[in-house]
Amino acid sequence: MSDQPREQWGTRAGFILAAIGSAVGLGNIWRFPAEAYRNGGGAFLLPYLIALLTAGLPLLIMEYTIGRRHRGSAPASFRRLGKPAQFIGWWQVAICFVIATYYGLILAWAVRYVGFSVGQEWGGDAEGFLFVDFLQVGDTPGEIGGYVPGVFWPLLAVWVVVLVILALGVRRGIETANKIFIPLLVAFFIVLVIRALTLDGAAQGLDAFFTPDWGALTDGNVWVAAYGQIFFSLSVGFGIMITYASYLGRRSDLTGSALVAGFANSSFEILAGIGVFATLGFLAAGSGGAVFDTEGGLGLAFVAFPTIISEMPWGGFFGVLFFGSLVIAGLTSLISIVQVIVSAVQDRLRMARVPAVLMVGGLVALASVLLYPTEGGLYLLDAADRFINRYGIALAALVAVVFVAWILRKLPMLQGDADATSAVRLGRWWRVCLGVVTPLVLGLMLIDALTQELGENYEGYPTSFLLWAGWGVAGAALLVGILLALIPWRREDTPVAADSDDQRSK
Ligand code: ALA
Repeated sequence: MSDQPREQWGTRAGFILAAIGSAVGLGNIWRFPAEAYRNGGGAFLLPYLIALLTAGLPLLIMEYTIGRRHRGSAPASFRRLGKPAQFIGWWQVAICFVIATYYGLILAWAVRYVGFSVGQEWGGDAEGFLFVDFLQVGDTPGEIGGYVPGVFWPLLAVWVVVLVILALGVRRGIETANKIFIPLLVAFFIVLVIRALTLDGAAQGLDAFFTPDWGALTDGNVWVAAYGQIFFSLSVGFGIMITYASYLGRRSDLTGSALVAGFANSSFEILAGIGVFATLGFLAAGSGGAVFDTEGGLGLAFVAFPTIISEMPWGGFFGVLFFGSLVIAGLTSLISIVQVIVSAVQDRLRMARVPAVLMVGGLVALASVLLYPTEGGLYLLDAADRFINRYGIALAALVAVVFVAWILRKLPMLQGDADATSAVRLGRWWRVCLGVVTPLVLGLMLIDALTQELGENYEGYPTSFLLWAGWGVAGAALLVGILLALIPWRREDTPVAADSDDQRSK
């Protein structure tokens, strides 16, 4: 049992760096370039920016304000906002549990590829090396199959690092890690992008990335993709930003911090797009082929990049920087995802940090290392990722805005809260975006996604597999959320925070 005062960030910069660390992740480096290319190239930037301004930033500000006001984990904060909303917080905790298990797996691959880059161990066949030699992917989706030790050990190492950082606490662990990792990531990335831009064929790659296909803007799917990208990339809808903001002092600036974190994330994302496409242009110039014919992030990072690394001068060095960037960016995001679960359990059971990290962090790590470093791991990841993003994050975000704006009607109160301490004041646009634009767009987006889903099986996977690994996982997250919210709280729920701490807040 622990009734210690709630932890706090050491400085405002520390909080902003942690928020940027959470936002900048695999979504920026491998998801964004692929999404942009598939959805109109340069024209995608328009819906992307509109999504950022009308939904991403308003939601980020809402999550910051809820977290700081109620000074609790996602379930505790939603409960204090209005009791019926508590299940949204637990739902987000369950979503984070699922995401954390496979996010760690992708990091483990990246860790191995840092090493593989040095000797370019994939030889002349990066694709065969990835699927057959390294991942040893089985033939049947849904069959777990044998263990793959080459994936198991790095995965275990990733989990040890994550749990140690979390056990050190918000200030000594998370804040310090981000203060080291974010500048390192920026340095790596600047070198990578400069190198990419000086490769032969870079201009051709950038042309493919930026040439706008304006016709794409009339396609609903492009807008859906833009909003989906913004949510995943900004880390909104997972409960992360509520959790991180709960460690802020009462007088900290919210809107300004959200603007800094949001624009930093998008700048990084666009920079990643430039770097990736300049590099792909080099590959195309060499082979005379199209700039982009790999599918999505997996093919891009683990097939196209290794192929390029083998062909370019100083390829090994470039590979270490690229996969090193993926590891660093992903690590700071994974830490934030697991922190959502740790802080929820800490608040609910009034547990001290270290036992909570060992208990829940250990459980997530166990699920991750038991299920994923297997011959069936890639299929599991693919199905869980697809369904938990759509019917987890996006659906939970929709339910959260409907509750906050329409059922609990808390937007004016939250606006007053944010404005009281922020240099930038929120206008009526904030309430309109959250109360009208975001629910409408998210609602349409989900109906559209559902129609596609019911029309054909994702990736042609067997229905029996999708029923448990896709629908089952997403449905279970919601069910767990509802069930955990039904358990009565034995003790009166008073915020754990000691207000005297505010004196220290920046
Ligand atoms: N926001 C994190 C990412 O982009 C989850 O990967």
